[in-house]
Amino acid sequence: MGSGKLKLAVLISGRGSNLQALIDACRDPSFPAEIRLVLSNRADAPGLARAKEAGIQTSVVDHKAYPDRSSFEKDMQKEIVESDAELIVLAGFMRVLTAEFVNLWPNRMINIHPSLLPDYKGLNTHARALADGKKEAGCTVHYVVPEMDSGPIIVQKRVPILPGDTPDILAQRVLEQEHLAYIEAVRIVARTLNKSLSS
Ligand code: GRF
Repeated sequence: MGSGKLKLAVLISGRGSNLQALIDACRDPSFPAEIRLVLSNRADAPGLARAKEAGIQTSVVDHKAYPDRSSFEKDMQKEIVESDAELIVLAGFMRVLTAEFVNLWPNRMINIHPSLLPDYKGLNTHARALADGKKEAGCTVHYVVPEMDSGPIIVQKRVPILPGDTPDILAQRVLEQEHLAYIEAVRIVARTLNKSLSS
């Protein structure tokens, strides 16, 4: 990367605790990435306040204001390109993206999912793992491809499922690992991109 740091656009829809973990990581001068934009599809996403607090540019592209996905995505794309971002980081972004949009960012878009993929794609991952009597749960950071919750895995972290766990208790245990996993994954992607640029 010419300027050194990998420039990120973080896309959110809600709480933004993974965003916060990345904001905190970026405070370390040796962290190989910087957040150029936080984009939300919801104006009331609490994560927007975290970005503003950290002095990061924010943008709201409200999907409800568009007649279809492609016009919504066209405006998102414009904002992201204007921010100069090189990597899109999906952090609790709750809109399905079209193949057309995903294919604009090959190996340049990553997602975090609260399960040990390929198990439990989609929603309610913790409740489903508990209902199946699993002994282990976790999270996955992966490159985004058109098929949902698929794509090459970058980092996985595991936690035990303990007696008495509820979906909420398990979600909290996994979330702590998500925050570590996302930081680790961004480091790996930054290193991978540097390598491919210098080779
Ligand atoms: C996380 O559990 C993430 O894995 C999932 O959505 C949740 C977002 O949480 N995709 P937060 O907004 O980062 O706190």
